[in-house]
Amino acid sequence: MSGALDWIPGALEKLEAQGLRRGLEPLGSPQGPVVRLGGAALVNLCSNDYLGLAAHPRVRAAAAARSEAEGAGAGASRLVCGDLPVHRELEERLARLKGKEAALLFSSGYHANLGVPAALTGKDDAIFSDVLNHASIVDGCRLSFARTVRYRHKDLQELDDLLAASRARRKLVVTDAVFSMDGDAAPLAELTALCERHGAMLYVDEAHATGILGARGGGLCEALGLSGRVDVVMGTLGKALGSFGAVVAGSHDLREWLVSRARTFVFTTALPPGACAAALAALDLLAAEPERRERLGALTARMKAGLERLGFPMGEVVAPIFPVILGDERLALEASRRLRERGFLVRAIRPPTVPAGTSRLRVTLSADHAPEQVDGFLGALGDVLAGLPR
Ligand SMILES: Cc1ncc(COP(=O)(O)O)c(C=O)c1O
Repeated sequence: MSGALDWIPGALEKLEAQGLRRGLEPLGSPQGPVVRLGGAALVNLCSNDYLGLAAHPRVRAAAAARSEAEGAGAGASRLVCGDLPVHRELEERLARLKGKEAALLFSSGYHANLGVPAALTGKDDAIFSDVLNHASIVDGCRLSFARTVRYRHKDLQELDDLLAASRARRKLVVTDAVFSMDGDAAPLAELTALCERHGAMLYVDEAHATGILGARGGGLCEALGLSGRVDVVMGTLGKALGSFGAVVAGSHDLREWLVSRARTFVFTTALPPGACAAALAALDLLAAEPERRERLGALTARMKAGLERLGFPMGEVVAPIFPVILGDERLALEASRRLRERGFLVRAIRPPTVPAGTSRLRVTLSADHAPEQVDGFLGALGDVLAGLPR
């Protein structure tokens, strides 16, 4: 070996000193309200398995049966020889859930966000992106030849001014529906109207809204009656739907265009049959068991009220994502460590995932949590915060 990687140990030490080094720790159990980690049973307050479907017996059985029947992998890109009937079946179901004509599967939300903005824009175009959009959107904008302009979080006036001033051939506005680290919602009705007024395309990432918001769990667009007006809606299958993959829903023309032009669709292996079958089973459960979403709603209200009593404003939170902002990286890490000692798994989220100075505990819930687990966490958090040097 050349020794050309010798810079890494020093760089890792620097990350460590800044409280920014990340590490992996394998779980000793499937997803659930309680998981095993490092030999301990911990109340799991950091998964995106919001509806408790990732390890649901019917979801597991569907994945297993389809894998048994059709194999573990799709073997190739959809365009080569990996286009399976289950892909179409899932796309049709997801198009209906999203209230759209058509849908196209992607390998993950990250793939969708990397591929779609670049497919919709070129060098004469401009993308307008909320500063708090997910990292995959940031990276997707970088992959486009369009000029990317970031607007202040949910700042409609700034966006309006930027759109008015832009001479771009095509304009694309991109936003998270529910912001992944803050749990707040984009002002979608206003954004839709703004895009219509300026002739801009609107791309909405419903990673944390799919399965949660809307009368049928279709997402924020459904909740606000905007499904027919938002051009491009992305949803992930790996969070509330307990599986893996993502969908981009819109018009038939949009789907056709992406099949030819979205590089992260064209140049990657298709989703495995088992993952698609798991998502189909999750969609069945979403429709058949509305009580899951009701339970999650009640737990969300309980957590919000409790965190507000501890002094953390939660007024903007619309989904089971609660930002407990502590500021300093090391403080967030220490709070996470102490909560773990008390039996609660909550991760410290640090830059670059969140802006510098806003390191936090990102607390999430699943429909399968018991109210007592929420209360227990709130009590432990109160004790831990009282003991921290703040
Ligand atoms: C807002 C948002 N978009 C996209 C993604 C990526 O989705 P996936 O995990 O399916 O790659 C995430 C995941 O964390 C997210 O929070």
